[in-house]
Amino acid sequence: MGLGARLLGDGHGHADDASGGLIRRARLYEIFSAAAFAGRRRRVFDQLAALSGVGPGDRVLDVGCGTGFFATRLATAVQPGGRVDGIDPSPPMIDYAAGRENAHCVFTVAAAEALPLEDATFDVVTSTLVIHHITHGNRATALAEMARVLRPGGCLLVADFRPPTNPVANHLISALAGHAMAHNPIGELTGLIEQAGLRVTGTGDHRPWLHYLRAGKPSSDRPRRIR
Ligand SMILES: C[S@@+](CC[C@H](N)C(=O)[O-])C[C@H]1O[C@@H](n2cnc3c(N)ncnc32)[C@H](O)[C@@H]1O
Repeated sequence: MGLGARLLGDGHGHADDASGGLIRRARLYEIFSAAAFAGRRRRVFDQLAALSGVGPGDRVLDVGCGTGFFATRLATAVQPGGRVDGIDPSPPMIDYAAGRENAHCVFTVAAAEALPLEDATFDVVTSTLVIHHITHGNRATALAEMARVLRPGGCLLVADFRPPTNPVANHLISALAGHAMAHNPIGELTGLIEQAGLRVTGTGDHRPWLHYLRAGKPSSDRPRRIR
């Protein structure tokens, strides 16, 4: 059994759709993620937080928050006065995240494609390593939902796994982590984000294996400051 299947837990992933599905083994995911970032996890996520432009007082949504690691880093960045909501459809991941007991975070079981949240609520929406877990047919809806809950002038920051171009490395990723990561169609993200009505304002690669896109929600009268 590959690592991807072990993380999924009890076989409720979307194996038929070649997406990653829900992750149920929260503690195992924490160990895997810490190892995969080779000691740079906190630094990488703090850099992603900076790229999103979050600042004191902001209301932030982290979609597919998993174990809540990024949400708690974002919560630090929005003090004083800010708050972070984390959503994930996997109850074990949300239980683990809630166990972090951060007073500035609220965690809820929900899926990206049906956010139980009001329109135009958040200054910043983030989603890291999640899109390849959503069924292919639901990805456009998920990004439209993220755009819906973003305030005009707000910022969306999406980062996902960038498959290695080296075929041997890619084969290894496929064997270890599964098809969804090894064949992640990262190039489709720009189109999906623009289709959701957002404007891509920046893209880049982040070592060791992340690709990120930053996008803004058009605002006629209240542009968001760039930090
Ligand atoms: C690889 S983990 C990433 C967790 C966290 N964002 C991080 O960067 O460590 C992918 C997460 O996406 C969640 N997920 C799967 N399907 C989802 C969906 N439809 N909507 C939101 N999250 C989803 C999984 O349960 C899992 O927690």
